[in-house]
Amino acid sequence: MPITTCIFDAYGTLFDVNAAARTAAAEPEFSHLADVWPQIARDWRLKQLQYTWLRAVAGRHCDFWQVTCDGLDWALEAAGIDDATTRERLLALYRELAAYPEVRPMLDDLRAKGMKLGILSNGAPDMLEAAVSSAGLTDVLDAVLSVEDVQVFKPHDKVYDLVGERFACAREDVLFVSSNGWDAAGAAGYGFETVWVNRAGEPVDRLYARPHHILRDLRPLPELI
Ligand code: LAC
Repeated sequence: MPITTCIFDAYGTLFDVNAAARTAAAEPEFSHLADVWPQIARDWRLKQLQYTWLRAVAGRHCDFWQVTCDGLDWALEAAGIDDATTRERLLALYRELAAYPEVRPMLDDLRAKGMKLGILSNGAPDMLEAAVSSAGLTDVLDAVLSVEDVQVFKPHDKVYDLVGERFACAREDVLFVSSNGWDAAGAAGYGFETVWVNRAGEPVDRLYARPHHILRDLRPLPELI
């Protein structure tokens, strides 16, 4: 069966998760972040993701906003920053992350090819709505699917099941695109055709499946279809 449906991870894939710390660090009020923002961005993301995996394994789900706050608190403490205004600014920026510049033209191309388009994300529905709307992507997406419907984080199969339920399609009809190597591997193991957007030039994750395609960014994606 040819691909009919393209599903995207949100954070790191469509939305630039480093943009919050980078943007705050450029603002005069937060110049104390100038040297440490890359470390904060890295620790924030790493802890946020670790907490999703640990909560999934432990069966103690909470929403992605909670793990986002918890990850930031860890990262700020590691950087020796104890300042409520900095915390609030970073969290506010996280709610309206910029999309990578190639996202909109790439989605328009896929739509012109007749693809159904959606997001499948750990993000809570209100976070995703804020990010999609501030990035101006609302009109180009057919669905924005959140793990909150199944109360467990990726890469649990229940999450990937949401795609077939929403689009009434088979696993092999779906191209799943993620910049998270572990998410691309999880989706490949589930039975989706997968693209890993390896923006950072990292090695392939040693997991139970490997992504079918590897791209450096999203620009070549329409040609792959
Ligand atoms: C998401 C995270 C994993 O959007 O980036 O699901």
